[in-house]
Amino acid sequence: MENNKREEWGTKLGLVLVLAGNAIGLGNFLRFPVQAAENGGGAFMLPYFISLIFLGIPLMWVELTIGRFGGNRGHGSMPGMFYSMWNNRWSKYIGILGIFTPLIIVIYYTYIESWTLAFSFFSLTGKYFGAESRESMGAFLKGFQGVQSNNYFSSIMPAIIFYLITLAINVYILSKGVSKGIERLANIAMPLLLIMATALAIRVLAFGTPDPANPENNITAGLGFIWNPDFSQLTNSTVWLAASGQIFFTLSLGMGAIATYASYMKKDDDVATTGIATAGTNEFAEVVLGGTIAIPAAVAFFGLVGAQEIAKGGAFDLGFQSLPAIFQKIPLGQFFGFIWFLLLFFAALTSSVALTQPAMAFLQEEFRIPKERAAIIVGLVIFICSIPVVFFLKHGFLDELDYWAGTFGPVLCAFLETIIFVWLFGMAKGWEEINRGATTRIPKVFFYIIKYITPAFLFTILATWFYQSAIDVLLMKNIDPSNRPYVWGARLMMLAIFIGLAYLVRKSWRMKEQNPPHLSPEGGGLG
Ligand code: ALA
Repeated sequence: MENNKREEWGTKLGLVLVLAGNAIGLGNFLRFPVQAAENGGGAFMLPYFISLIFLGIPLMWVELTIGRFGGNRGHGSMPGMFYSMWNNRWSKYIGILGIFTPLIIVIYYTYIESWTLAFSFFSLTGKYFGAESRESMGAFLKGFQGVQSNNYFSSIMPAIIFYLITLAINVYILSKGVSKGIERLANIAMPLLLIMATALAIRVLAFGTPDPANPENNITAGLGFIWNPDFSQLTNSTVWLAASGQIFFTLSLGMGAIATYASYMKKDDDVATTGIATAGTNEFAEVVLGGTIAIPAAVAFFGLVGAQEIAKGGAFDLGFQSLPAIFQKIPLGQFFGFIWFLLLFFAALTSSVALTQPAMAFLQEEFRIPKERAAIIVGLVIFICSIPVVFFLKHGFLDELDYWAGTFGPVLCAFLETIIFVWLFGMAKGWEEINRGATTRIPKVFFYIIKYITPAFLFTILATWFYQSAIDVLLMKNIDPSNRPYVWGARLMMLAIFIGLAYLVRKSWRMKEQNPPHLSPEGGGLG
């Protein structure tokens, strides 16, 4: 499109940092340890690495390629990207998943992000110091979330204030645009995050055996728990689902966020190397740093059984309860608490802007809305939709959004995008696209992996889900009856957002049909 001067990433290093920032998030430091501990530590790691090779890395290349392809044709969000790859009236509607999924995630993700900001502040001021046991830290967290009123917090107001600050920071960065907002943030936040995480990992390794009366509770036992492989679990479908789900979440795959970032790449920027660099940095942050902090620390202080029990409590207990309890037992605990939560905040912030950018790109490109206004509109939508997340937390509202957008949605979206890429765009053309501009061509074996194994793997995950869980989930069999109205509310909200997006996609294509832009040789405009 002639009037379509799209933004681009400023530097090659910036590109790697923004993509690493996109991927590295709460998933690496909170979700991963909990998933690993809940699914048997070493038993989880084997399916995890197999999923990385057959799903994570191939899909990273596919999403980067789809994004760069669409971006070169003026589209930074999936409806336009899919339409430019598969000229069919339905392709743009399938692409809605690439705006819907990240938007739903960001509605709850930003709220959790604000807790990390609050807790880094509380670490500095020493507000939770005194709540020394895990149980009292649990009460502190519940008080803060407004789930129960206690002597730590009498209202939910502090949580709301930190949430508004966090949302405002997100909107501000997004309003500055891709290179002046997101890339600048990544240039500062990512190096700081890696330094803080490394410092903390070293500190945890130095815990040794904290309580000589319980010598079996030590760091080596914690590391062994994750790293001793357990082949007996290779036939357990629950572990496979958890491991592949974690790969999706941590690499931000099937969410549209990677494709949108790739749309700001230049035409011949290297997808192959960028993909490996992104996955590699993310895995380093997750497995090496994330794997060294929460679980080994919990095992050293609470024992193997204790750590597994904490993990069963959900995604936040290891990070928000057991670690703060541990910080209170070590010298300079306030400082280490501060950097733990600050690193979580940086990790979350660089991911939440990435998850919001698909909606931003959609408004900017399909409706010609300037980025400042688009940031305010998306910020308002997130704010309004997050109100029930904040107030109905204890009724499972957040969990319901997370189930569909954080667990199910990405697999579905990745399956459909692989079908479009491999079968409708065509694998031969796709392979050429992936390798265009690559300094080192991707080994040919990945041609077959992407064409056959990845789609078959995704199909198997979806089929297993339908067979094992679909009915129970849809009928809310495992949900407390008193929470069901709230869960229905969450489902209706998601449905309304999806329908709203479908309406907008239809409207923007109608507008373009009535008022076609000048077509570039690349086939911009409608293509
Ligand atoms: N990939 C992001 C995370 O790990 C969403 O939190």
